[in-house]
Amino acid sequence: MSAKPTMKMVPKGHRDEEVVTTASVLNRASKTFPIPTPLTEHGGAQIISVVNQKGGVGKTTTTINLGAALAELGRRVLLVDFDPQHSLSVGLNINTRNIEGSIYNLMMDESTRIDDYLLKTSVPGMDMIPSHEDLAGAEGGLMNVIAREKVLKRILAPVTDYYDVILIDCQPSLGLLTVNALTASHTVIVPLECEYFALRGVALLVDIIKKVQANTNPDLQLLGILATMFDKKTVHSREVLDRIVEAFPDKIFDSIIARTVRFPETTVAGEPITTYASSSTGAASYRRLAREVIALGGVK
Ligand SMILES: Nc1ncnc2c1ncn2[C@@H]1O[C@H](COP(=O)(O)OP(=O)(O)OP(=O)(O)O)[C@@H](O)[C@H]1O
Ligand SMILES: [Mg+2]
Repeated sequence: MSAKPTMKMVPKGHRDEEVVTTASVLNRASKTFPIPTPLTEHGGAQIISVVNQKGGVGKTTTTINLGAALAELGRRVLLVDFDPQHSLSVGLNINTRNIEGSIYNLMMDESTRIDDYLLKTSVPGMDMIPSHEDLAGAEGGLMNVIAREKVLKRILAPVTDYYDVILIDCQPSLGLLTVNALTASHTVIVPLECEYFALRGVALLVDIIKKVQANTNPDLQLLGILATMFDKKTVHSREVLDRIVEAFPDKIFDSIIARTVRFPETTVAGEPITTYASSSTGAASYRRLAREVIALGGVK
């Protein structure tokens, strides 16, 4: 019996043709990441920290848009704004002046319950915990707390049965808050801007990951390095990518995020690119990253 040829249906927004990838830049065989099957059970959240102590490399943009793309794939997503600058809250249109409380209250007061601080976002299936400027004082406030590196892990524990993935947007520092994020996490994503000095400081970051593995979280793994703000038109971006691949041959994501003005626009709009400009290349890039993260086992 001859099988009827079927047209392969590619869901809207998942067309990869225009998306720049590590393989395409390096002229290697292209990779594909299939649309994952829907989950039949939820919970057992994989916790991922998005970390780089360098500012403005795309941590918050990655947290919001990877989260939104995973939610589109039916995953239950929680985003944690763990930066006193609260850009993630702003990027999701949360006015931090009008909220009841933030991750700061959860960090500083053991009697608080995470359920009281969860907010819905405009994306179905994606919730968030907002941040507040007060969080800048948390590192000092935690100094006398017993097991001060494990406070965020304790806070998140009650909701890991509900969510499939928790993404933590870290501040640009390697201080106690970031150590808390790494201690609570299964894996780490490191966005690197395709600019001169992209790799400067990465050795220090790798060192912190090793220290956390040795002291508070032996199972912590680097999930991947994400090249961001890549500019196809410049030789320079390609040179930086070459250097990143040389330094982390097995750890660089095949998905790359190109530089586009659509991302700053989304911050103003207060929504992810997957809804603001659903058919844009930027949205397709983060959808591809979401599929790659699932293919790697970073999220089930
Ligand atoms: N791929 C991109 N192309 C162009 N602009 C981008 C891209 N990704 C992020 N941006 C913009 O660059 C700025 C910094 O991005 P983002 O806030 O995500 O970085 P960050 O690492 O979280 O910064 P910080 O260290 O301050 O928390 C923002 O204005 C954002 O809109
Ligand atoms: Mg940020």
